[in-house]
Amino acid sequence: MSRITLNVNGKSHTLDIAGDMPLLWVLRDILGLTGTKYGCGEGSCGACTVLADGEPVQSCRITVAEAAGNSFTTIEGLAASGLTRCQKAWLEEDVSQCGYCQPGMILESHALLRRKPKPTDQDIDQALAGHLCRCGTYPRIRKAIQIAAGAGSKS
Ligand code: FES
Ligand code: FES
Repeated sequence: MSRITLNVNGKSHTLDIAGDMPLLWVLRDILGLTGTKYGCGEGSCGACTVLADGEPVQSCRITVAEAAGNSFTTIEGLAASGLTRCQKAWLEEDVSQCGYCQPGMILESHALLRRKPKPTDQDIDQALAGHLCRCGTYPRIRKAIQIAAGAGSKS
């Protein structure tokens, strides 16, 4: 067991925990943040994506020991001060179907717009290449990102 401190959604958590536990399980089972989804567990689907200091990471692929000291944002924390422009565009376009992949898609899209305020469809496809949507919502996601990009620089 190790004593590890993580910052998640602006709150600090000190945990006595096995250091090799994937961050995904810490978020879901210990902190109760079940918006982060378990899909493949091996880095192939993107469902477990969260932001680490603003950059997308797959939480099934990093251990809590590796995560220590970083600041993470999950889908629960993204709208802490109101819905982001991505989330608003998602609602406007009625993007979600079953919803399982959507937290990871939204967090990845949020990071893309921070990095590239006016992405092309190719930029979007590249950014989302590591995310699987079994419901095939890709065209609506692309449209929502373009709507969010048109909404200006507010996150
Ligand atoms: S659950 Fe992490 S990439 Fe699929
Ligand atoms: S909305 Fe169902 S998997 Fe993407």
